[in-house]
Amino acid sequence: MNFEELARERRSAVKFIEGVQIPDEDLNKIFELTKLSPSCFNLQHTNYLVIRDEERKEKIREHAFGQYKIKTASAVIVVFGDKHAYKNVENIYSGMKMLKMIDECEYKEMIEQTNTLYEGKGERFQEDEAIRNASIHAMNFMYAAKYYGWDTCPMVGFDENAVHKELNALNHLIPVLLIAIGKSDNSKIRQRGYRKPISEFVKNESF
Ligand SMILES: Cc1cc2nc3c(=O)[nH]c(=O)nc-3n(C[C@H](O)[C@H](O)[C@H](O)COP(=O)(O)O)c2cc1C
Repeated sequence: MNFEELARERRSAVKFIEGVQIPDEDLNKIFELTKLSPSCFNLQHTNYLVIRDEERKEKIREHAFGQYKIKTASAVIVVFGDKHAYKNVENIYSGMKMLKMIDECEYKEMIEQTNTLYEGKGERFQEDEAIRNASIHAMNFMYAAKYYGWDTCPMVGFDENAVHKELNALNHLIPVLLIAIGKSDNSKIRQRGYRKPISEFVKNESF
């Protein structure tokens, strides 16, 4: 499948075929592509929690206004954005320094620039960054899933605080999205929703 086909064929699943298991092997392939996503300073702010156990899925569904597709999905995936991703900057860059991809001077510069940006801009920026970077990551997850034959639905219809508490998540992790993943039940396909023409959402002097 080339990218054009992928972009045209990815849809938000309305309903999944019940009882389909998603194997670790497929999840790993999906995450191997997803990890190539861009992130600010390559800080990789995104974490995922894959929930396949029926009871655990049901708990999440309770905090997601009972959305039925979570019940029939093969897994519900919680996408977290890490507000403190910048604190891991030394780990990210020390490996590159050891491999001589960067020298000591570049290493120090990266650390200083990262800390200056994130500490200088403060908490609001750290939170925005967690959401911004996790959202980009999650989009790539959905394309990678489609590429390997899995359908998804991104979901913001959930109680963020309740999910955070349910999962005992660390304070600096924000549940940004849920992604239901499975095999779409194609008896329930909706036509693609209206899309604005390009001229309505792009300002380009040549238009
Ligand atoms: C941030 C975000 C939140 C969404 N939340 C939900 C949701 O809670 N439940 C749901 O069924 N669909 C949800 N959707 C899916 C949208 O309804 C869907 O993407 C839109 O209708 C366009 O359809 P398409 O993805 O098939 O092109 C969400 C999509 C996005 C990007």
